[in-house]
Amino acid sequence: MKMPGMGGMTIYFDQYNPNSEKGTDVRRSLAGLDYSPLPRVTGRSFAMAMLVSMGGLIFGYDTGQIAGFLEMPDFLRRFGQDDGNGQYSFSNVRSGLIVALLSIGTLVGALVAAPVADKMGRKLSISLWCLICAVGFLIQIAANTAWEQVMIGRLVAGFGVGALSLLVPMYQAETAPPWIRGALVCTYQLFITLGIFLSACFNYGTYIHQRQSSASWRIVIGVGWAYLIILGVGILFFAETPRFAYSRGRHDEAKKTLCNVYGAPPNHYSIVVQMEEIEAKVVAESKVKGGPISEIVSMFRAPRVAYRVALGMSLQMFQQLTGANYFFYYGTTIFESVAISSFVTQVILNGINFGVTFIGLYLVEHYGRRKSLIAGSIWMVICFLVFASVGHFSLDQETPANTPGAGVGLIVFACLFILGYATTWGPQVWALISELFPNRYRAKGMALSTAANWLWNFLIAFFTPFITGAIDFRYGYVFAACNCIGGLIVYFFLIEGQGRTLEEIDTMYLEHVPARKSSKWVAPSAEEMAKLRREAGTDETVMAHDDVEQRGALSGETERGADGIDKKTEQPGRNESSSHAENVIR
Ligand code: BGC
Repeated sequence: MKMPGMGGMTIYFDQYNPNSEKGTDVRRSLAGLDYSPLPRVTGRSFAMAMLVSMGGLIFGYDTGQIAGFLEMPDFLRRFGQDDGNGQYSFSNVRSGLIVALLSIGTLVGALVAAPVADKMGRKLSISLWCLICAVGFLIQIAANTAWEQVMIGRLVAGFGVGALSLLVPMYQAETAPPWIRGALVCTYQLFITLGIFLSACFNYGTYIHQRQSSASWRIVIGVGWAYLIILGVGILFFAETPRFAYSRGRHDEAKKTLCNVYGAPPNHYSIVVQMEEIEAKVVAESKVKGGPISEIVSMFRAPRVAYRVALGMSLQMFQQLTGANYFFYYGTTIFESVAISSFVTQVILNGINFGVTFIGLYLVEHYGRRKSLIAGSIWMVICFLVFASVGHFSLDQETPANTPGAGVGLIVFACLFILGYATTWGPQVWALISELFPNRYRAKGMALSTAANWLWNFLIAFFTPFITGAIDFRYGYVFAACNCIGGLIVYFFLIEGQGRTLEEIDTMYLEHVPARKSSKWVAPSAEEMAKLRREAGTDETVMAHDDVEQRGALSGETERGADGIDKKTEQPGRNESSSHAENVIR
C-alpha cells in the first residue's frame, strides 16, 4: 500500500497541521502543537511487540502440544487404558476431555479476565494469570498415573491461557500508537501459529530422544514456563496502560507513558489527541447508566448491531468448523493410523500453517475479505472432499501399510487444506471481527464473537474422537459441508471492508447496503455519515463530548481501518484502535 503520510519508518503529521500547506484535516485550536515526524517504532514499542508475541506464543504452544502427547508411549501407558494385550489407548471420553478442557478453561479465563483487570490493573493481572498458568503446568507435570490430574491441570492452565489471550492484546491496544496496532494484530496471530509449530517441534524432538520416558511430555510442558517467566516478569518492567492509569485519575502518568512509547514530546499532536480520546472513552463509560446489563440490552436494540453480533459469532463458529483443529489437535493420531511418521507430519503441517500465515496477512489487505474468504471456503471444501474420499474409500484402514499411496494422498490434502485455511479464514476472521462493530459496542461484540470461537473449539476438541470413531474419515464431508455454509454466509451477509474506514463500514451496515454490492458502494460525505451514526447511537465518543460537532475530530473522522491507517488519505489515524485486541478496551 502506498503511504504518502508514512515515509517508511517515519510517521508524518502534516495533514493535521493547521500551519502547514499540506494540512487537510486540521483543528485550528491545536495550531500551537508540535507536528514533527515521529519514528514508526521506538525501543519501547518494539519491546511491547515482543511482549504481545509472547502472549500469542503461549496460546499456540499450549493448544498445539496435546496432539503429540496422545501418541507418546509413556503418556499412553500412564494415562491411557490397557487394552488387555499390553497395548494402551485412550477412550473417546478420556482423550476428548484431556484435549477439550483447555478450551473450557480458556473460555472461562477470557470471560473473567476483563473484570479482574479493571480492578487490579492490566500489568499485575497479566503476572497473576501467568502464575495461574504456571500452576496448571505444574499440576500436569506432577501427574503420575491419574489422567484426571492432567485434565484438571489443562483446565487450570486454560484459565491462564484464556485470560492472557485477552489481556496481552488489551495491554497493547491500550498503549501502542495507532500506526503499529495493525502490525501488532498480525504479530499476535503469527505467534499463535509459531507457538503451535514450536510445540510440534518439541514433541518431535522428545519423541525421538526420550520416547519411553516421561521426559517426552514433561519437557514439552515445562518449556512453557520459560515463556510464562518472560511475560509474567517482563511485564512488571513496563508501565501500566495509559488508559487504566487515566481511569484511576493518574493523568500525568498516562501522558508520560504515551510519550515514552510514541517517542514524542508532551505537546505533540499525537499525544494530545490520544489523551483526548482516552478521556472521551472514560467519560462516555461513566455516563452509561444502569450497568452492564442495560448496556447489553441497548446493544441488541441498536440498529443493525444484533445482526453484526450474529455475523461475528457465525464467522468465528465457522472458522472453527473449517476443521483446522481436527488436524492441529488430532493430527498425530490421524496420521499415526496411516503408518507414516505422524510426528514429522505434524511438524510439516504446523510449519506450513505458520509460514503461509504471512501470505494471509498480505491477502487481507490486498484482495479484500469477501473474495479471499470465499476462495478459501471453496479450496477447503475441495480438500476435505478429496481427503474424506481417499481416507474412506482408498485407504486400507486395518492395515494402512497396504495402501501407502492413499496415506501420502491424505497428507498432501491435509497440507493443501492448511494452506487454504492459514491464508484466509485463520487470520482474517480475527481481523474481521475487529472492524465489524461500531466503536461503542466493539468490546462486547468482539468478546461474544471470541466466545463463540472458544465454544466451538471446545465442541470440536471434545466430540472429534467420538465422531471419527463412528464415521472415520467421512468426518471430512461434515467439514466440507460446513465450509460451504461458511462461504455462503460470507457471500450473503459480510460487507466488504477492504479500503474502508471503520466509520464507512458502520454506515454501510446502518444503510443496509447489500453485502454482494458492498465493494462498489460509494460513501456519502463525512458529515452525512457522522449524522447517520449519531442518530443510530453507534459512536460512543459522541456521548462524551457535547461540543463534538464544532470540534469535528471526534465524530466519525477519527476512525481508521484495521491497520490504524486512514484508508482514504493513507495517513496515520487517531482511532482508538481496531485490533484483534480491541475486544478488551472497555
Ligand atoms: C484459531 C485456532 C487455531 C489456529 C490455528 C486460530 O485462528 O482460532 O483455533 O488453532 O488459528 O492456526
